[in-house]
Amino acid sequence: MARKLERTAGICCDAGEILITSGSLQGLDLVNGILLTRGDTVIIEQATYQGALTRLQRLGVEAVGIPLDRDGMCMDALASALDDLKRRGVRPKYIYTVSTVQNPTGTILSEPRRHEMLRLAAQYGVPIFEDDCYSDLIWDGRRPPALYAMSQHGGVIHIGSFSKSVAPALRVGYIVAPWPLLARMLAIKADAGSGALEQMVLGEFCPRHFDVHIPVLTQALRVKLETLMEALNEQFGTAAEFEDPKGGIFLWVKLPDQVDTQKLFVPALAAGVAINPGAEWSTDKNHGKSRTRLCFANPSHAAIREGVATLAEVCRREFGVPARIANMERARA
Ligand SMILES: Cc1ncc(COP(=O)(O)O)c(C=O)c1O
Repeated sequence: MARKLERTAGICCDAGEILITSGSLQGLDLVNGILLTRGDTVIIEQATYQGALTRLQRLGVEAVGIPLDRDGMCMDALASALDDLKRRGVRPKYIYTVSTVQNPTGTILSEPRRHEMLRLAAQYGVPIFEDDCYSDLIWDGRRPPALYAMSQHGGVIHIGSFSKSVAPALRVGYIVAPWPLLARMLAIKADAGSGALEQMVLGEFCPRHFDVHIPVLTQALRVKLETLMEALNEQFGTAAEFEDPKGGIFLWVKLPDQVDTQKLFVPALAAGVAINPGAEWSTDKNHGKSRTRLCFANPSHAAIREGVATLAEVCRREFGVPARIANMERARA
């Protein structure tokens, strides 16, 4: 693990700074477990991983959302949120960021922004919680160093996973943090150790196969993404807006304002298409309302095309958009 982290994320650490977890979800729980209590505040990307949001809700922690653009979390918005909280006497417990292939936007936090985030975090005395679980799935394989690697004075906790690169059912993730923090996490890690067999499987698979497997996987994912984007353009036309993500397994799609994806979810599912309603993946429910996260990793190319056609049909029936489907005006067709 230590060698992989150095090679791929630029993190120089030894095995003593790494704790193997049962998926990175357990990493989230352990970090939350040592840092958060009810009534706390954290800073988080405005569109973010639903599993992180629901955990914060359950813990009674307020999540302050920071908008993203093509280069990830916007640093001017982060600076004003930190300033605003400080003026109100609130010190957030951490800044949570899925910095490298963000969930759900697929953006990568640029290197200058990483420097700025580290500077702001040090200035306001707030740790950074870096969730790097998609960072192996980048189309061109190029990524900035992890925030953990760039930090000169500590203050960053890094988590990752083999769920996205090898198999989610293995449940092997990891936390990289200084030992005093890991020691506190170990004290609340109640499962008496994460499964050893899975780790042995990875220990055998990775040295010989990981570097061969990753380009094959990312190439296959990229082609599926192209199928999805083509199908959306064909079926939704200008009604579906999205940026071409830099990696990952999902596309963050903006539909016209009148579409409520939480309401679209039910009839779409009844027609056989599962979507992630944007409000569930956003700190700002209004921002998420007409957005949806579409995951393209598992379905075949044919299923992607068929699914998008069905989704367009259901969306037109429920919300009147797209007015044209597959370039045909439905009223006249
Ligand atoms: C940003 C993020 N973090 C953590 C996880 C948890 O993954 P796992 O527990 O399978 O490693 C996910 C899964 O979707 C995720 O998207």
